[in-house]
Amino acid sequence: MRGRLLRGGSCKAKTVLLGGLKDHLKTIRQSRRIVFIGCGTSYNAALAARPILEELSGIPVTMEIASDLLDRQGPIYREDTAVFVSQSGETADTLSALEYALENGALCVGITNTVDSAIARNTHCGVHLNAGAEIGVASTKAYTSQIVVMAMLALAIGGDTISNQARREAIIDGVFELPNKVREVLKLDEMMKDLAQELIAHQSLLVFGRGYNYATSLEGALKVKEVALMHSEGILAGEMKHGPLALVDETLPTFVIATRDACFSKQQSVIQQLRARKGRLIVMCSKGDAASVCPGGSCRVIEVPQLEDCLQPVVNIIPLQLLAYHLTVLRGFNVDQPRNLAKSVTTQ
Ligand code: UD1
Ligand code: BG6
Repeated sequence: MRGRLLRGGSCKAKTVLLGGLKDHLKTIRQSRRIVFIGCGTSYNAALAARPILEELSGIPVTMEIASDLLDRQGPIYREDTAVFVSQSGETADTLSALEYALENGALCVGITNTVDSAIARNTHCGVHLNAGAEIGVASTKAYTSQIVVMAMLALAIGGDTISNQARREAIIDGVFELPNKVREVLKLDEMMKDLAQELIAHQSLLVFGRGYNYATSLEGALKVKEVALMHSEGILAGEMKHGPLALVDETLPTFVIATRDACFSKQQSVIQQLRARKGRLIVMCSKGDAASVCPGGSCRVIEVPQLEDCLQPVVNIIPLQLLAYHLTVLRGFNVDQPRNLAKSVTTQ
């Protein structure tokens, strides 16, 4: 991944250079707001990147699903930077939202995987993912590449101050560690196949996440839904008590993402509350944390390698992608071409 992704942009000597943005960084830093706009998996990737962009830039970052922005004709201002995230660069809703943002005078930035796509051509500037062509309808490598590129975007916008130097260096080191961590997490393939076998006959599953991994819960659930054709729901763990807890029982498979970050202790408490309701738990945690997240082996545990928090979603989504893959194959569905879906939705 590193070779392709960093072909244009680069993280050499602990600095980030995104060639397509360098002449626009000053304007972006002066924005009153950064608005991420996308659909489906691209929206989820932007959601994963939002916290690091807020932290490093200090600029308010808001999220828009392209169709919803258009339905509401939501406010977009001249002082905004609107960032359009799209693998194909051709999604009709995202493209219409781009036209709308251009009319409203915002600086429009594209993050696309397709050189010469409509979004790449019509944005003022942007970044190509260079992740290589993505053929399967369900986006996988574009998702992980989008998160890495948006973390690089946060580093580029954030600027190099003494106060954030250690954090910046840790993220850049993390980018270089990613290929090994991804190789390591891919070794969970057999475990996820066994889990898929166990879950094959279930109607539904829940995925609880928060912070950096709220996006992982949405995206993991989306993958299971779109390719394995199993109902699944990604849920913000902070909302657990406001409805979703009513669904929890001994039978419904319930994932909790509890890798180490600032939200870890809150997720430990979520696990305790779900265990108290006899939930059928599958917990994703950092290597070495199995005993502390699930004392007495009370739930199934998936241990993943740990990484800087903002890059952790890149690793955490992989077991869920593998689970969706195995569930799909075991259920006899087509993993590359899910029922009723298109790779690029070019009509509204
Ligand atoms: C460019 C070359 C890359 C080369 C590198 C060498 C292209 C497409 N890229 O990469 O092959 O290795 O120089 O320095 O020839 N853009 C948008 N909207 C988007 C995406 C991109 O406007 O959604 C614009 C960028 O602002 C930029 C151009 O397209 O002007 C190319 O973007 P990108 O490939 O990311 O730039 P470089 O990393 O400089
Ligand atoms: C479609 C695809 O719904 O469009 C999804 O099936 C994708 O995988 C979504 O996430 C958005 O596409 P794009 O190309 O704008 O990222």
